[in-house]
Amino acid sequence: AIERTFSIIKPDATKRNLTGAINAVFEKAGLRIVAQKRIRMTKEQAETFYAVHKDRPFFGELVEFMISEPVVVQVLEGENAVARHREVMGATNPANAAEGTVRKLYALSIGENSVHGSDAPETAKQEIAQFFSGNEIVG
Ligand code: CMP
Repeated sequence: AIERTFSIIKPDATKRNLTGAINAVFEKAGLRIVAQKRIRMTKEQAETFYAVHKDRPFFGELVEFMISEPVVVQVLEGENAVARHREVMGATNPANAAEGTVRKLYALSIGENSVHGSDAPETAKQEIAQFFSGNEIVG
């Protein structure tokens, strides 16, 4: 079915001017960018977004990284968008990412891994709602 997922182009990628290159990978994979904005995340936004990881040892580092440079938040739409997006992002750790994936091509490390994508349709709904109002999404 056609579904939507939430995507973030992270600070390591925006800093290296890779927004367009990463969007090209998404679009070639059949994902349509139906909402997109470049923002500087606040500390509060980053802490809320990653609340599920708050007890992990890397939480503080993750939040500081996400607010260190601008990010591009996006809504992507397409057939099985959540799974399709995860497939083209590649494994969280770029060392394990498959050829041709965004993380294989561009990620620097497990933390500076260039992109975020929702892990399930339910999560996607919540993540989209944190950053976009309905009228900002144009399908
Ligand atoms: P993301 O998909 O945005 O969701 C949680 C993020 O935590 C993950 O991508 C990684 O960038 C980050 N992360 C996971 N494990 C580590 C780690 N060991 N050290 C630093 N960051 C990590």
